[in-house]
Amino acid sequence: MKETPSAWKDYPYVRLENIGRYVDEKVVVKGWLRRMRSSGKILFLQMRDGTSTIQAVAVKGEAPEEVFKTAKTLTPESSFEILGSVHRDERSACGYEIGIEDLHIISGSVGYPITPKEHGVDFLMDVRHLWIRSMRQHAVLRIRAEIMRSISEWLDNNGFLRVDSPILTPSACEGTSTLFETDYFDTKAYLTQSGQLYGEASAMAFGRVYCFGPTFRAEKSKTRRHLTEFWMVEPEMAFTDLDGCMEIQEQMISHVVANVLKHRLPELKTLGRDISKLEAIKAPFPRLSYDDAVEYLRSKGHDFKWGDDFGAPDETVIGEGYDKPVFVHHYPCSCKAFYMKPEPGREEVCRSVDLLAPEGYGEITGGSQRIDDFKLLEQRIKDNGLPLEAYQWYLDLRRYGSVPHSGFGLGIERTVAWICGIEHVREAIPYPRTMSRIHP
Ligand code: 4AD
Ligand code: MG
Repeated sequence: MKETPSAWKDYPYVRLENIGRYVDEKVVVKGWLRRMRSSGKILFLQMRDGTSTIQAVAVKGEAPEEVFKTAKTLTPESSFEILGSVHRDERSACGYEIGIEDLHIISGSVGYPITPKEHGVDFLMDVRHLWIRSMRQHAVLRIRAEIMRSISEWLDNNGFLRVDSPILTPSACEGTSTLFETDYFDTKAYLTQSGQLYGEASAMAFGRVYCFGPTFRAEKSKTRRHLTEFWMVEPEMAFTDLDGCMEIQEQMISHVVANVLKHRLPELKTLGRDISKLEAIKAPFPRLSYDDAVEYLRSKGHDFKWGDDFGAPDETVIGEGYDKPVFVHHYPCSCKAFYMKPEPGREEVCRSVDLLAPEGYGEITGGSQRIDDFKLLEQRIKDNGLPLEAYQWYLDLRRYGSVPHSGFGLGIERTVAWICGIEHVREAIPYPRTMSRIHP
């Protein structure tokens, strides 16, 4: 590894996203080679530095012969730095060009495995640690960061306090069939499937809270919507019913989409996203009861039995009927989690709500009003075959000042996949974990 030439120290080191502030000035830029092209006496180097890409130009006769020679030895993904002057150039991707005066190789790169030819997804996933250097993956992961930032921004500005839930837990939240189990000294622990139960405790302490972190499910499904490690934001609100829960979701999601359109338009364009589809995402979102959704499916010729949960194809059909996400509420208790409040007067359905994204992306959030009655909750825990002892702390929330409360969980990768318009959630997280992949 070679150090920056000491003669360069009088010039500012500039990251490419800020290069526009240095027009006609001499600066140092540092990055990696995307590709090189030469046309006779001119050498064009595409340098990326993580924030943007710039074209660097060396002209024979103008740049020193030594510099020209060194530049020619650069290979894809070699790291290097340039001393040069910045010019405006409308033809370049970032709007600027740099004229090379001196060039210094930091470290070489031999046989970089990703080449301009088409690669299969399996191969690209094997080299995911390198694939994230590409333009398309940059776009997706920048949009992901913007989505996560905007979610926190909206919640922080609307009276929510971030109170995170633990990852190592003694009991299940979303059924026992997808638990990852681990030894915990002399007992067993599970990786959390959802921070919700702790979120409810936090809501009884602070009123409106959210937790935001990775969650884990040993899903034996190889679909384009399932990961075994995925990120979830889970708001939980005291003194809020199911309608209030839906209002918060539509406000938050509209804010997120508006922010992505405002701050990440170039990235959406890189992905070829149809912008008009995102511009339509404004609150309020349509609401459809489970009963009506079943009728709708039947009207489309699907032989659907009342009481069953919707599968991905059903969600796709329902979601395609709208140009905004659609809430489906009041599912049968039998296909939902133990803690959801049955509808008074119609106990076979519960105050649950799923939000289905348009364009066939399916469920992106799941939520409900929670059972607030001690006796009923205790009964539901028993009926679901869960160990009562492990839930005594959770029952305390109904022993000591129980209140009506609601919450939901939004899956980050499914939301990223929908907003980016990409096919599979595995590209919506930096290092995906699926049933068949824990590498790299
Ligand atoms: O519908 P789910 O299972 O709801 C809960 O976990 C509640 N405890 C949340 C709450 O009320 N606080 O999961 C919520 C969301 C889903 O809508 C989906 O977006 C995402 O989490 N999700 C997954 N994403 C990727 N891979 C998986 N295996 C997922 N399972 C759920
Ligand atoms: Mg769900």
